[in-house]
Amino acid sequence: MDDRDDMTAADAFDLECTGIYKDFGDFRAVDDVSFRIPSGTFFSILGPSGCGKTTLMRMIAGFEDPTRGDIFIKGASVLSVPPNKRNVKMVFQHLALFPMMDVYENIAYGLRCAGTPKDEISGKVADVLARVALPDLARREIHQLSGGQKQRIAIARCMALNPDVLLLDEPLGALDLKLREAMKIELKLLQHQFDTTFVYITHDQSEALVMSDYVAVMNAGRFEQVGRPEELYHSPKTAFVAGFVGDSNRWKGRVLDVRSDGVRIETDVGLTVVGTPYGEKAIAQGDIAEVFVRPEFVAATKPGESVPQAEGENTHTGTVDSVLFNGANSRVLVRSPAGTLIEADVVVTGGGEDLREGDTVRLSWAPAQSMCFSD
Ligand SMILES: Nc1ncnc2c1ncn2[C@@H]1O[C@H](COP(=O)(O)OP(=O)(O)O)[C@@H](O)[C@H]1O
Ligand SMILES: [Mg+2]
Repeated sequence: MDDRDDMTAADAFDLECTGIYKDFGDFRAVDDVSFRIPSGTFFSILGPSGCGKTTLMRMIAGFEDPTRGDIFIKGASVLSVPPNKRNVKMVFQHLALFPMMDVYENIAYGLRCAGTPKDEISGKVADVLARVALPDLARREIHQLSGGQKQRIAIARCMALNPDVLLLDEPLGALDLKLREAMKIELKLLQHQFDTTFVYITHDQSEALVMSDYVAVMNAGRFEQVGRPEELYHSPKTAFVAGFVGDSNRWKGRVLDVRSDGVRIETDVGLTVVGTPYGEKAIAQGDIAEVFVRPEFVAATKPGESVPQAEGENTHTGTVDSVLFNGANSRVLVRSPAGTLIEADVVVTGGGEDLREGDTVRLSWAPAQSMCFSD
């Protein structure tokens, strides 16, 4: 699509924010945020606690006015539309189901408030319960539901009203780890099922990566990068994104020189690493820079085994400090002679399974897999 198509098809975007700011006194909670979300997208806003996620969502829902900027739903500005008239629904962390009503009444209540004709209500409740795969639970009391069922009912209650956008503010926050894992997949399936745009807030990068079509990484009120999960993971534009999305070996140091085949960095921990410039800021000799290497790109081999790339740069011999066994996701922590710990994924079928504490290993990784950012 070129820009002109975008303009004429403005309502192809369920949600668009342009230059949104929110100041609380002299504190800026949201700082010049712009984005737009095509219809039927699972869009996550990922960032640490306090970065402004809830504030942004409350402005979209209409509970808070932006200090500056505009918000469009299906192409129309909603700044002057009160929250109950915006076709947006919000699921909160504690779900806010009414404990004194059963499942049916929880869903019907919203429909009545929205003025749905009486004879349509029971059909709509049955339909939405079928779509969340809980057709037989209409007469259950809320306290009789499991955590996962409550989650689905909270979503069903919103979806019965057919919103253009469903906002979810850390809805898995109160669940235990095992249930969170299951609900991640379930939420994604529900979003497909309804084909409605979900805007999902989280501080948990693994949730955002697994579920989303697009993720916005937010830091101190700003969007640092918006992209597909694999883009954020493999092509981060800032050191913040590289550090926040996925696991990394992370070092800081000084740039020794910049050559066509890589940037040489002398790290604080005594390793010299050859890397590749990432991000928009140029890297020059003498700069302070940060390097990130994902554990899965670090190959661990025993002396005598062949190294998957030419020996030389980014090859370090060390001693296995600990083996972190986790099936196919097992890792080793290797201590270099200078004492630095380097984390490497071990491919269990590739010969790494017999690594033991105290073994001597060689670690190597390609300069292309070392992402460098100027500070
Ligand atoms: N009503 C308010 N008045 C003053 N400061 C606020 C208000 N709401 C939020 N903040 C501040 O704005 C920042 C962002 O908060 P919030 O949007 O809740 O962050 P997140 O949801 O990312 O954890 C925080 O520093 C918070 O203390
Ligand atoms: Mg919040």
